[in-house]
Amino acid sequence: MNAAIYPGTFDPLTFGHLDVIERASRIFDRLIVAVGVNASKEPLFTIQERMDLVREVVAPLANVEVDSFDGLLVEYCRRKQVHALIRGLRAFSDFEYEFQMALTNRKLAPEIETIFLMPKETHSYLSSSMVRGIAAMKGNIEEFVPPAVREALERRVVPRVIRNDAASEE
Ligand code: COA
Repeated sequence: MNAAIYPGTFDPLTFGHLDVIERASRIFDRLIVAVGVNASKEPLFTIQERMDLVREVVAPLANVEVDSFDGLLVEYCRRKQVHALIRGLRAFSDFEYEFQMALTNRKLAPEIETIFLMPKETHSYLSSSMVRGIAAMKGNIEEFVPPAVREALERRVVPRVIRNDAASEE
């Protein structure tokens, strides 16, 4: 079976990520979306919340499953016996970071190949931190994230903003 892993922090999943997932799911028989614990970031959503949101959004895609990983990505791929890694390339600015990561992973595990997919141009400017920022300022994020993610963001971020507003009025 032709399988691939799409790793990321997904804090939270956006339409840009979903676009990459849909493209990869058309190419591979089986796609694992691997949500990274990522100790180097301070995610807004817990690992379980990020996984639950991805799972809800990808539910219609029969060949896509959701998992989490901690530690080295290539070791996770080896445990899963998967040799293809998917990464999205949104714009030229992604290239240097992705190039470095792909070559480092190749050095660590030459049997694993990184495959880059380009999300739809209309999503090429999107990032999770931008969406979190807009939600925190009570902006409209409808065009950036699926409804389940929007609701989760509004539940998480907006009460915090309202609390802060109330505190600054006192
Ligand atoms: N649509 C929207 N946003 C996208 C995107 C797309 N198609 N592709 C990337 N992004 C954005 C994300 O929203 C995120 O934005 P933010 O930083 O503003 O929140 C940013 O690009 C990067 O996110 P992501 O794709 O989730 O990658 P990451 O850099 O957070 O994590 C891992 C990448 C998890 C794969 C990497 O950290 C990893 O492999 N960790 C394990 C440790 C390891 O093996 N290290 C050695 C390898 S170098």
